[in-house]
Amino acid sequence: MSAFISTIRPASIFTIIAGTVLFAGTARAATTLQNMQAAFQGESNAHTRYLAFATHADKEGYGEVASLFRAAARAEQIHANNHAAVITELGGTPTANIETPSVKSTRENLEAAIKGETYERDTMYPEFLKQARADKNKSAIKSLNFAKTAEGEHAKLYAAALNGLDGLKNTRAMTYYVCPKCGFTARSITFEKCPSCFTPKEQFEKIS
Ligand SMILES: [Fe+2]
Ligand SMILES: [Fe+2]
Repeated sequence: MSAFISTIRPASIFTIIAGTVLFAGTARAATTLQNMQAAFQGESNAHTRYLAFATHADKEGYGEVASLFRAAARAEQIHANNHAAVITELGGTPTANIETPSVKSTRENLEAAIKGETYERDTMYPEFLKQARADKNKSAIKSLNFAKTAEGEHAKLYAAALNGLDGLKNTRAMTYYVCPKCGFTARSITFEKCPSCFTPKEQFEKIS
């Protein structure tokens, strides 16, 4: 070993150090890549789950709630697409295993949806953002922040629907507004530009 060290040239030491730095950088990027894959998996499944919840809400006569589920489903699809672009940028292939949704009563579906959104807003996205900031990955930070903000809005909208569920029986579909860039979701347009990504209000998608 000592013989090896004694014959090592400065250029080789530099190469080893550079290699170590490169390896460390690659390891961090892989973690953000794994996080983006996990987020892509979560958003893709949320999209499928909310569409199933919407169909069931319609069957139970909660037309307004069905519209909310469809609007949130569209937002989750936008998040999945945004995350997929980051995964591709990092050299990965977006991969999601779509599970069959567990559909219960609309009340229980709302409770499950609130739980999922709260976890993403308070735990999952903050952790992924911490790693993305450490990696200085601007694309990941942007995509994760867009999703985190929208999930916060979804949690509020679902909580309001759950609180007023008795009054939402026998309601018809209503229009929700979804930002095509970040998935921000609103019951009405009370702003000129998206509060999260500043997309002009005219570009918002109407989902009912
Ligand atoms: Fe959401
Ligand atoms: Fe937006």
